[in-house]
Amino acid sequence: MQRARIIGTGSYAPEKVVTNADLAKLVDTTDEWIVERTGIRERRMAAPGEFTSDMALKAAVRALEMAKTRPEDLDLIVLGTISPDMPMPACAAFLAHKLGATKCFAFDLSAACAGSLFGMSVASQYIATGQVKRALVVGVELLTRLIDWDDRNTCVLFGDAAGAMVLGPSEDPNRGILSTHLHTDGAQTGILCIPGGGSMHPQSPEVLKEKLHKVAMNGREVYKFAVKSLTSAVEEAFAANQITGKDVQHLIAHQANIRIIDAVLERVGIPRERAWLNIERYGNTSSASLPTTLDEANRAGKLKPNDTIAMMAIGAGMSWGSGVVRW
Ligand code: UT7
Repeated sequence: MQRARIIGTGSYAPEKVVTNADLAKLVDTTDEWIVERTGIRERRMAAPGEFTSDMALKAAVRALEMAKTRPEDLDLIVLGTISPDMPMPACAAFLAHKLGATKCFAFDLSAACAGSLFGMSVASQYIATGQVKRALVVGVELLTRLIDWDDRNTCVLFGDAAGAMVLGPSEDPNRGILSTHLHTDGAQTGILCIPGGGSMHPQSPEVLKEKLHKVAMNGREVYKFAVKSLTSAVEEAFAANQITGKDVQHLIAHQANIRIIDAVLERVGIPRERAWLNIERYGNTSSASLPTTLDEANRAGKLKPNDTIAMMAIGAGMSWGSGVVRW
């Protein structure tokens, strides 16, 4: 079995900035409430006519450049998203075409905010078996088109972005993706979902009227579930790799709420200064959150060979997990 390694990272966020003050003009909220309860100061919004696959393309090109990989040399694209260009076909197919990745197979993966961690895990298994030599994993969301701008419980949280990672076989068996531990609890489908637009509530005037095609969330339940399950997933990863929080140089996490991250950090013994954060600037970008953060840390030159990186992510499903990477 060949261990997989991340050989390139890339990210992209649209230019348009939406501040908390902008949102306070739309709904009954304040900059103070949003910053204090979430850590978010601003988020980005895709331009009219900009699609999910366009954002994915920009992040992917950057990751491929770093990995010195041509699109036509990709064997696999896994794209984590819940906001694709269309319900069918896969957003990954649009991306493959825009990239010129003509030899790969490409599919979307639906694990919401955990999409890029799940995608990294899937792609690394293909590399481990030798079936794939070069894989592109993308986490991309254009959530500003899927949120209800009248709902202060959700509209202050989310933003648009894309992140990408190129995976290849590691020459050094001690470096690369050491482990991933993934979980899903389908009993929690109701606490975070987009109820309309599928087979349960097909598109109809009623679905639109009731706004069932928009993100619905029980924030408090998601919060409690996230702290509990992320803590146990990171502990599981530590046990599997026989490490503790002290051995971790970097935490790269999905960022939904700074308070969730802080609560988990405290429980697993990772100092706060080791967590890479961009929630303040981008908000919750769902599956894009983890790879954009990884790319920022990487391009800042902060990830040194043999550094240990802990990863964690959670999203609708609920689906969640952890990863350990030796850089
Ligand atoms: O990406 C994975 C999925 N998402 C998450 O992980 C999100 C997890 N949940 C959270 O991050 C937090 O639960 C929220 C940030 C969504 C909410 O924070 P909270 O501290 O759990 O607040 P709450 O829902 O308990 O609401 C407290 C109060 C309520 O008012 P009352 O009932 O106490 O009068 C809300 O109506 O805050 C009110 N509220 C707001 N006030 C101002 C809710 N949203 C807002 C808002 N501005 N935007």
